[in-house]
Amino acid sequence: MLAAPINPSDINMIQGTYALLSDLPAVGGNEGVGEVIEVGNHVTSLKPGDWVIPGDAGLGTWRTDAVFTEEKLMKLPGDIPLLCAATLSVNPCTAYRMLSDFETLGPGDSVIQNAANSGVGQAVIQIAGAMGIKTINVIRDRPDLQKLVDRLTALGADYVITEEMLRKPEMKELFKKVPKPRLALNCVGGKSATEMLRLLQHKGTMVTYGGMAKQPVTAPVSALIFKDVKLRGFWMTQWKKDQAHNKDRLTGMIQTLCDLIRKGQLSAPTCTEIPLKDYLIAIEASMKPFISAKQILVM
Ligand SMILES: NC(=O)c1ccc[n+]([C@@H]2O[C@H](COP(=O)([O-])OP(=O)(O)OC[C@H]3O[C@@H](n4cnc5c(N)ncnc54)[C@H](OP(=O)(O)O)[C@@H]3O)[C@@H](O)[C@H]2O)c1
Repeated sequence: MLAAPINPSDINMIQGTYALLSDLPAVGGNEGVGEVIEVGNHVTSLKPGDWVIPGDAGLGTWRTDAVFTEEKLMKLPGDIPLLCAATLSVNPCTAYRMLSDFETLGPGDSVIQNAANSGVGQAVIQIAGAMGIKTINVIRDRPDLQKLVDRLTALGADYVITEEMLRKPEMKELFKKVPKPRLALNCVGGKSATEMLRLLQHKGTMVTYGGMAKQPVTAPVSALIFKDVKLRGFWMTQWKKDQAHNKDRLTGMIQTLCDLIRKGQLSAPTCTEIPLKDYLIAIEASMKPFISAKQILVM
């Protein structure tokens, strides 16, 4: 292995609260990039020197060396930067699928998302930008708010607002400049999700993919009756399982994302690189609020 991030779902797996749990003893980590050192006689798709990412969750990427069957891995083109490669197989894929599979969006449409500074959120901003879709990005208030607003704006965010602003009448002003969103991407739950639902267009969709606030999603009755909004969920692991007989769809998506990386339209999330031996520091940092940096274990 060369590098592997610490994602919230990795922590949830260790806590035993995730939908996918490995048999114990197990190695943590679901995402990362490795270099092929040696291949068996019957291996045809990989050779020493190739860079590979997990084709599926549950491989255990927080380690220096591993032996995997070739079907478990996907080969990456040789020109993808290390941190992009290490963070490619989960969050950008999730962002790409949610922007593509739930509503037909085109240039000029808008999407609203909470936890916009998360790894997924940063990918949504960039992929939506490449598709000509405007993003309304909701983040939590913090002492150095402006710094984060500037960072997300530099990444291509069209509008960055706090959770508190979501509930204010000033939102009407914003919707004079940009159409109401047809798609809301919910990583948080609780009040944040409820407020996003209120802002959706008629028959719009809210996709829940994370539950960072550990609060249920409450749908306003008026949004359901008068606006007929749709509530959906998304899990990348399930999507990959569903493509078991359609691997071209998965490799096609990775190619599309690699093209965006090459064109400078998709970068790695803001990261802190930490040597594997300091994993405890990295894991602690990954669980702190307002850290705004993905912890990447570097082997
Ligand atoms: N369904 C899927 O297929 C799928 C795929 C990828 C990720 N996910 C999920 O998506 C979520 C984000 O993953 P990630 O890797 O992008 O995360 P990440 O980069 O570690 O970012 C975590 C985000 O959660 C926010 N957050 C933490 N606690 C919060 C709270 N109590 N209320 C509101 N926001 C809070 C953080 O904001 P602050 O800066 O304000 O702390 C930050 O924006 C996780 O729940 C993960 O499991 C799901």
